[in-house]
Amino acid sequence: MEFGSAWYPEHWPEERWAEDVRLMCEAGFIVARIGEFAWSSLEPVEGHFQFEWMDRAICLLHKNGISVVIGTPTAAPPAWLTHHNPEVLAVEPNGRPAQHGNRCHVSPGNSTYHKYTRRIVEQLARRYGQDERVIGWQIDNEYNRIDYSEATHRQFQVYLKEKFVRIQSLNDFWSTAYWSQSYTDWNEIPLPIGPHNPGLMLAFKQFITKIWCDFQKIQIASLRLYARPEQWISHNFMEWFEGFDHYEVSADLDFASWDWCVGTGHMNHLMTGAAHDMIRGLKRKNFWLMETQPGSVNWQGVNNQLNRGEGRRMAWHAVAHGADALLYWQLRSAPGGQEQLHGSLLGPDGAPRPFYSEAAQIGKEFKKVSKKLRGTTIKNSVALLHSYDSRWSINAQRHHKDFDPVGFLRHCYRSFAARNVGTDIISAEADLSEFRLVIVPALVILSEKTMENLTTFVEGGGTLLLTIRCGQKETHNALFPTRQPGPLRELAGVEVEEYFALDAAVPIYSEWSDSLAGESTIWAEILKPIAEDVQILAKFGESNGWLDGRCACSCRNVGEKGGRVIVLGAWLSDTLQDSLTAWLLETTHIDVPFSDIPTGVEVGRRVSEAGEEIWIFINHKNHSVTLNIPSAPAGSANLDLLTDETFEAALPIPADGIRVLTNQQA
Ligand code: GAL
Repeated sequence: MEFGSAWYPEHWPEERWAEDVRLMCEAGFIVARIGEFAWSSLEPVEGHFQFEWMDRAICLLHKNGISVVIGTPTAAPPAWLTHHNPEVLAVEPNGRPAQHGNRCHVSPGNSTYHKYTRRIVEQLARRYGQDERVIGWQIDNEYNRIDYSEATHRQFQVYLKEKFVRIQSLNDFWSTAYWSQSYTDWNEIPLPIGPHNPGLMLAFKQFITKIWCDFQKIQIASLRLYARPEQWISHNFMEWFEGFDHYEVSADLDFASWDWCVGTGHMNHLMTGAAHDMIRGLKRKNFWLMETQPGSVNWQGVNNQLNRGEGRRMAWHAVAHGADALLYWQLRSAPGGQEQLHGSLLGPDGAPRPFYSEAAQIGKEFKKVSKKLRGTTIKNSVALLHSYDSRWSINAQRHHKDFDPVGFLRHCYRSFAARNVGTDIISAEADLSEFRLVIVPALVILSEKTMENLTTFVEGGGTLLLTIRCGQKETHNALFPTRQPGPLRELAGVEVEEYFALDAAVPIYSEWSDSLAGESTIWAEILKPIAEDVQILAKFGESNGWLDGRCACSCRNVGEKGGRVIVLGAWLSDTLQDSLTAWLLETTHIDVPFSDIPTGVEVGRRVSEAGEEIWIFINHKNHSVTLNIPSAPAGSANLDLLTDETFEAALPIPADGIRVLTNQQA
């Protein structure tokens, strides 16, 4: 486990650095991220580079056993750059250029900006690429800006020309005869601001993705010119941010990182686990938590502090979901910066704030288990599919204001998390061979590749759950010429006769749990069987007349290997979703780890290459619990790696407590 924080030596007189580093060491920090907004300190005047301060900072960190991650500074270009080259400033949707000084104010697709980017990144790589004290690079910081300039508009038109080749083909895919949108020349195609043609809107998001991929490729190429192969390259993403397709952008990275803040309120592990799992799914690899909040943030409506013990639970929750590193943002606030009031480990006096002691405890614990955790990964039998194309499509036309596609994915996720059944959240186009159960939440756009993968999965014996809004559109965001689930109708044996945005809940009667009743809210779909061997698992009760008594959930067995396709036409109430999940797990023979784990206690598992399991128990409750665990096999013991205690059949966990259990030979 890597543990540390973001540190900005350029904010402070050099005499202070040693004390900062001493306090980092005392908290158990072994890594610091530096440099990601320091361009004006690295190149104060165009073409004049000043790396000596960074050399000395790295040297001091290294002397104290702290390794370094350098962030390339391209999210915060210096004022001379934007002043002399105003064309690099991003244009807001209202046509005005972004202001200097609030970072991310440049256009990531601007060729002048690319030139400056290449130069500063190459300079950094040349200086630190062979440096053993620098273990890796973070490119830029939380990609997010969309530029609406004329230059970007022209690039978009060129992108479309490359994608569609013939203008008539674009017209056909986008149904441009509608509202006289037909184009005769690529130059006529607008940049969508606000609602527009669905094909245009989707293509614009895909174009923005390409802008970020290209911007990142420039930086990766510049780094790789000089960087030793052991130096990894990553980027810190923002959980469910939908500005670009994270699968495509992360493809060129060594691993994904993300920045996790709870913001207002407190951690709900049944939700935040999904974000960790999604980020792990980007590369199907463990990830770094590049930033997390020490105490509070400063950018929410209510910037409440984490409760005592909550930061520690957050840390272990991240580890249980595949984090290999945790860094706080940040060590100390710059006295005059925009983020003066953000949580930090040190106060304005340079002395520890209360949260520091909790960080120090985490530091000790990570140190203790680090060796054991090295090389361990997360292995699951259940996957949830996630797609940016589908999210963009639905968010542009929700049809029901509360139909949040991420909210629906998390709704499906929650009942697995509540049972401590680990899930992978992966690209809708990913290979599914390692899973037994695959859930497809609101995958409105269905690509050929996804269809093939899902069919192969079911024919190979897997259980597939297709939910509401699946398979309505092809890859240009146009309606399929069939009812949902589009080309998967034959496999599913049902089609959606009609869909309903609900203004009132609809009762549902299900078969999967002794006729347990519940309801559907937000959305409902009438499933019409189109094959004889379709089983009806649930029906709608009395409602709007159309839905009454019609099929809400179906199941069809496929092939000789026990494969099944279940189609669900409802956004189930929580209890019904829970019982469906229980039924799915039982009928696919997926074990629920340990029995009788009380609500509010989380159990995660990491597995070494040799198959050794490490179980992480997190008590999110404010009172202690005692769990029943199986006795260790003869000649071994259940050992808590944090306390070195061994446990037979009862595992006590204090309020807010953590246990990290493994099976140890006696
Ligand atoms: C992150 C950002 C950091 C800092 C932090 C505050 O999004 O990367 O630079 O602004 O938020 O919470």
